[in-house]
Amino acid sequence: MHRRSLRLRLLITFGVGALLLSSLFASLTYFSVQRLLVDNQQQTDLRESFANAALVRSTLYSSPPALGALLNSIEAATNSSVLVHTHHQWLSTSHGAATSDVSAEIVHAVDNGKVLHQTISRRGKLIFIVGVPIPAVETQVFEVFRLERLEHSLKILGLVLGLGALVTSVIGLGGGLWVSRRAVRPLLNVSSAAAAIADGELTTRLLVGQADQEVQQLTESFNTMVSRLVARMERDARFASDVSHELRSPLTTLTTTVSVLQQHRDELSPVGRESLDLLAADLSIFQSLVDDLLEIARSDAGSLEHVIEIVPVAELVRQSARSAAQRLGIPEVPVEISDAARELSVGVDRRRFERVMANLLGNAAHYAGGAIVVRVDAADSHVTVDVDDAGPGVPIDERESIFQRFFRGRAAHDRSLARGTGLGLALVRDHVAAFGGTIVVHESPEGGARFHIELPRREGAVE
Ligand SMILES: Nc1ncnc2c1ncn2[C@@H]1O[C@H](COP(=O)(O)OP(=O)(O)OP(=O)(O)O)[C@@H](O)[C@H]1O
Ligand SMILES: [Mg+2]
Repeated sequence: MHRRSLRLRLLITFGVGALLLSSLFASLTYFSVQRLLVDNQQQTDLRESFANAALVRSTLYSSPPALGALLNSIEAATNSSVLVHTHHQWLSTSHGAATSDVSAEIVHAVDNGKVLHQTISRRGKLIFIVGVPIPAVETQVFEVFRLERLEHSLKILGLVLGLGALVTSVIGLGGGLWVSRRAVRPLLNVSSAAAAIADGELTTRLLVGQADQEVQQLTESFNTMVSRLVARMERDARFASDVSHELRSPLTTLTTTVSVLQQHRDELSPVGRESLDLLAADLSIFQSLVDDLLEIARSDAGSLEHVIEIVPVAELVRQSARSAAQRLGIPEVPVEISDAARELSVGVDRRRFERVMANLLGNAAHYAGGAIVVRVDAADSHVTVDVDDAGPGVPIDERESIFQRFFRGRAAHDRSLARGTGLGLALVRDHVAAFGGTIVVHESPEGGARFHIELPRREGAVE
């Protein structure tokens, strides 16, 4: 399943969380303040309209003609219009105050002797209407307050709170970014350390710094785990090396005994001779297995010392191929050096390079009827050495595994005579890597296998 990144999730959580919280806070504040302001305003307006109604009443009693002047003066002094309804009709609509603002139901309710106040919206604006009855003269006084200023204040409040919520969300997002970075950093460190260790850098450890307690714990457990693993690997490598070492002396005794027996071969019965030959053959396989194991174990333990010399590649390959062939008892293989490679040098341990050649030429002899040619060439900053044969080649699915320890391919199983242990190419790869190079297998132009070695070019004296 596709997993979203932890950082993104933290970021979204923080951003959305901050947005929700700040919006909630802003709305709560807005509605409480709105309620408070409206209540306050209404209290003030109510008081005012009762006072004005009292004025209207006393004017109606004392001198009704002065009512117009009174209404005008009230209107000039306040932010409201006073409407007087008497004997079922409007007495004065001073300054065009809309009597239509006061609905028939309101008039009716006040006419029944009830004091009434109400906030309503007219033409998109809020108004507050107060109706006071004066039953003695069948009159109702209405005062209509326009709440423009209140609306304006609320608008500004809304704007400020909205802006505040936005800023808080942005700050929350920033916090999320910081926290996610901080939270993910130790994970990235662990993963890059693990990758380095997987690449063979076994000394890699996480830095024990002033990190948080949990991260510190992770760091310590990780480092302990790696140290224990490395210790265990070293112990295993030492064990293999010790075992192979211990096997050497009895093996030498056995080899000596067999060679003594071989000197007296003629004195043995035919069955004895046959047994001796079998013993000698197995002994030589055993010997090479122990040699290879010891070398691999030392290479694992890091105690395999390479004496690296800078040598001319042409001479190195020619000589190694010749002595390998001699040692293996196989015909010599022609070595072709390209013009580009003639003057170049490489840095290798001679003895081990010879073992590389011996392994490759030995394999070619075993599985492919012998190598046809060894070619040396130059490519970029590398020198290449190709060992070609015309045998069955290496199947594509085995081209990587044949370099693993104890891996024996189909070619080995097809030829019951070719006995081996599957360590040869593993050692070859270890040695080539120790020289800073690589080895892979392809198909040769002749149809068989081509073992292709690349070694870094080294500057050095060429005789
Ligand atoms: N030239 C070749 N042509 C075809 N197959 C090969 C060739 N060289 C190696 N192989 C395959 O690669 C496998 C591994 O070779 P490697 O040299 O590591 O082991 P081995 O030859 O089986 O045993 P040993 O450890 O004695 O050398 C062989 O078993 C064989 O299947
Ligand atoms: Mg081999």
